[in-house]
Amino acid sequence: MFSKLHYYIRTRLAPYSKILKLIPYDASVLELGCGHGNLIEFVSTSVNHITGVDFDKRKSSYADKKFKSYNNVEIIHDDIVRFLSQANKRNYSVIILSDTLASVPFRYQEETIEKAGALLENGGVVILKIQDVEPKWKFFIVLVIVSFVYKLLRLSISSNQEFFYQSRLYYIKLLEKHGFRITDVIMNRSFSLLPTVIIKGQKQ
Ligand SMILES: C[S@@+](CC[C@H](N)C(=O)[O-])C[C@H]1O[C@@H](n2cnc3c(N)ncnc32)[C@H](O)[C@@H]1O
Repeated sequence: MFSKLHYYIRTRLAPYSKILKLIPYDASVLELGCGHGNLIEFVSTSVNHITGVDFDKRKSSYADKKFKSYNNVEIIHDDIVRFLSQANKRNYSVIILSDTLASVPFRYQEETIEKAGALLENGGVVILKIQDVEPKWKFFIVLVIVSFVYKLLRLSISSNQEFFYQSRLYYIKLLEKHGFRITDVIMNRSFSLLPTVIIKGQKQ
């Protein structure tokens, strides 16, 4: 019951359909920070294969059970920084970080982008979904949601989680610095309450 409600809320609040449109047909996808696997569930029928990684034991076990019968989904319980450091050269065509980078300490964010780039095949893409820190009033709403819904109600929060937000310009520059050409920057409409931004970068 909770899982269906969570999926319903998440698919409405997070623009999964916009992410799906950015994924080429028949892609081999890696989702870093897959949580309960809501995004995986949304895209799994449109991709060739998808691997999800999450360090939260409860969420990754839940996702692992949910996708047991899918032959194109694999769930790995691991920290993404560790996973990226140890992964062999796997040629993913798409790597997605959807609301994950904000949980990665600032000092590891650049390393995450750099190592994700190394796992992509040439011409592969990184898709970032973030909450921008501008405009400030929208970012304030993000902080309120994070503090009250997540921290106070302890809904959907991973243990000891802290948040590290950066601006969309920071991520655009970071991707460019690591050899990505920015092909799409999709921002929420101005009347929307959340400063959600989706950035797609193609490895050159
Ligand atoms: C807000 S959820 C997003 C889930 C999913 N990507 C989506 O869009 O529905 C962020 C997830 O990233 C995971 N996460 C954060 N930092 C991580 C890390 N260093 N290693 C692995 N997972 C991480 C959290 O456990 C959480 O499940």
